[in-house]
Amino acid sequence: MLSVVPSPVVVRAPSKVNLHLGVGELRADGYHELTTVFQALSLTDEVELSPSSSLTVKVSGEGADEVPTGRTNLVWQAAVRLGHLAGRAPLVEITLRKGIPVAGGMAGGSADAAAALIGLNELWDLGLTRDELATHAAELGSDVPFALHGGTALGRGRGEKLLPVLSRNTFHWVLALAKGGLSTPAVFKELDRLREAGSPPRLGEPQDLLQALASGDPHLLAPLLGNDLQAAALSLKPELRRTLRAGVEAGALAGIVSGSGPTCAFLCTDADTALAVSAELSGAGVCRLVRTATGPVPGARVISGP
Ligand code: C5P
Repeated sequence: MLSVVPSPVVVRAPSKVNLHLGVGELRADGYHELTTVFQALSLTDEVELSPSSSLTVKVSGEGADEVPTGRTNLVWQAAVRLGHLAGRAPLVEITLRKGIPVAGGMAGGSADAAAALIGLNELWDLGLTRDELATHAAELGSDVPFALHGGTALGRGRGEKLLPVLSRNTFHWVLALAKGGLSTPAVFKELDRLREAGSPPRLGEPQDLLQALASGDPHLLAPLLGNDLQAAALSLKPELRRTLRAGVEAGALAGIVSGSGPTCAFLCTDADTALAVSAELSGAGVCRLVRTATGPVPGARVISGP
């Protein structure tokens, strides 16, 4: 009898930038209450899943050496979780092709986790709905539900409670990837420390930013971008100030630290300006690598399957 080798499932998942990241109080569970506006960007990871005799994780691409391949990787946890749910051993080989910077504040690990949930649902034919997958996503990490959702969304709670946001047009971004990463818990801790020592400014509610998104005008959006974690990221990596300055001097409308950093995200008027800014930043010696991206883009989705 011929044995048929099932073809792998390949899922693409987006990175994100927080257009607005308002950090509230530290909760009893160790998380901070957030009000955030996420936008999914075209800088993506691809995750390939194939049946195997054991659970393995392989990584290639951007920052592959720094990605754990054992049980601390969220894709491993996603496989164990869905395997348990389906009553089957998680015998799958998961290959991560990284385009999203590792520990860069762009939710690369969360993108992979979202991709793994979508991919395993397909590979194992589990028939879970998007809402059911979102519940598992939230258990895996605060940013995983948004990586499933994609587009532009308002996030509350830990960032896992999402509402879609109307965003007209495509926005053009330049991303400056830093040398080395920043640990998200360390950046939140640094913000707590700064708040104990003084009172760094806090963002208000993002109503004006939501209106700017609906207008689709990057000139209206640029001055409203804001991130409460930026002061903490700059405190831990002061060299990011130079990067932020250089992007704006190169012609970007505005620059912010993406999430907990250290990636800096620059909003540009159009695709041509983004290319010019990226060329200038590449030559300025203020970052490790420069990428252009557009947003919003869809959440994690199968791009090829059995
Ligand atoms: O949810 P996730 O595991 O990605 O969060 C990583 C860490 O980031 C948390 O353990 C916490 O220290 C910090 N965090 C936070 N408040 C949030 C999200 C994350 O303090 N809303």
